[in-house]
Amino acid sequence: MSKILVTKRVYPEAVEFLRKDFEVDYEGTDAGLTTEALIERAKGCDAIVSQLTDKLNAEILSQFEGIKVIANVAVGFDNIDVPAATERGILVTNTPGVLTETTADFAFTLLMATARRIPEGHAFVHSGEWKTWLIDLLAGQDIHGATLGLFGLGRIGAAVARRAKGFGMRILYNDAMPAPAALEHELDARFVSKDELLRDSDFVSLHVPLTPETRHFIGAAELARMKPTAILINTSRGPVVDEAALADALEKRLIWAAGLDVFEREPQVEEKLLSLQNVVLAPHIASASVATRRRMSMMAAENAAAALKGERPANLLNPDAWTA
Ligand code: DGY
Repeated sequence: MSKILVTKRVYPEAVEFLRKDFEVDYEGTDAGLTTEALIERAKGCDAIVSQLTDKLNAEILSQFEGIKVIANVAVGFDNIDVPAATERGILVTNTPGVLTETTADFAFTLLMATARRIPEGHAFVHSGEWKTWLIDLLAGQDIHGATLGLFGLGRIGAAVARRAKGFGMRILYNDAMPAPAALEHELDARFVSKDELLRDSDFVSLHVPLTPETRHFIGAAELARMKPTAILINTSRGPVVDEAALADALEKRLIWAAGLDVFEREPQVEEKLLSLQNVVLAPHIASASVATRRRMSMMAAENAAAALKGERPANLLNPDAWTA
């Protein structure tokens, strides 16, 4: 019987599903496994159901013997060295599609909460310091009619644009390549250069994967090009933004505010960001609705199961490793 290592707690139905056909070594804790423990526990296993907290680089992959598939419970897969896995003939899968709308809901929620200063308002009411109505009390930025600049018009970027359209926002975008004309038309979205997007947007929202090219895609130079009233939203990956440069820009009010769900060294957060009022922080929860996280758990389990049954997994990232 094939054996599957599940490295960290997932929704239980995923484990029950795997147990029907496979032996499962389930690390059902929130801490998950250290690298050393993961390598040890992977011995004798045929598959790994991993999470984005498992950093599976080339060096670690080289210590896996007999692993046929790594099924990541996330759409992002920057925690896995996919080319190194391909070289070793290890299939890698992710969970695309299933979290698109939930993540877009959250990106737009974060945008609204930041623009309209919801966390500050909540804390203010709780503090008992609210004495009277004031003309400029917690005055924020308008969302309706503003310009939204999207870096990345893939599944999630486009879903955010659909929400923005409902608010009468103008959509600019930049991506590695222009989107199909039909999508541009549907979203009334205009492809612009990176500089133009930074210069003209009231809100800049990031929807690019983390790659060597996108690491620190937004740094001091980019922040300096944004409007002083602009708001940066990041629900992609932390290292896409130079967090220290962002904290400086927020402190100096070079930009107006930021809403961040992801960080460079999660769960650590740049110290300065913790003391600033003009930033809204969330603990990497953009896809965290109960229904979506359940589906992500199941999807990863199904990908692992398919591969072990000799079927091509639905969400295969490295078809070059597929030899059946
Ligand atoms: C992903 O799936 O990549 C998110 O960051 C977690 O849902």
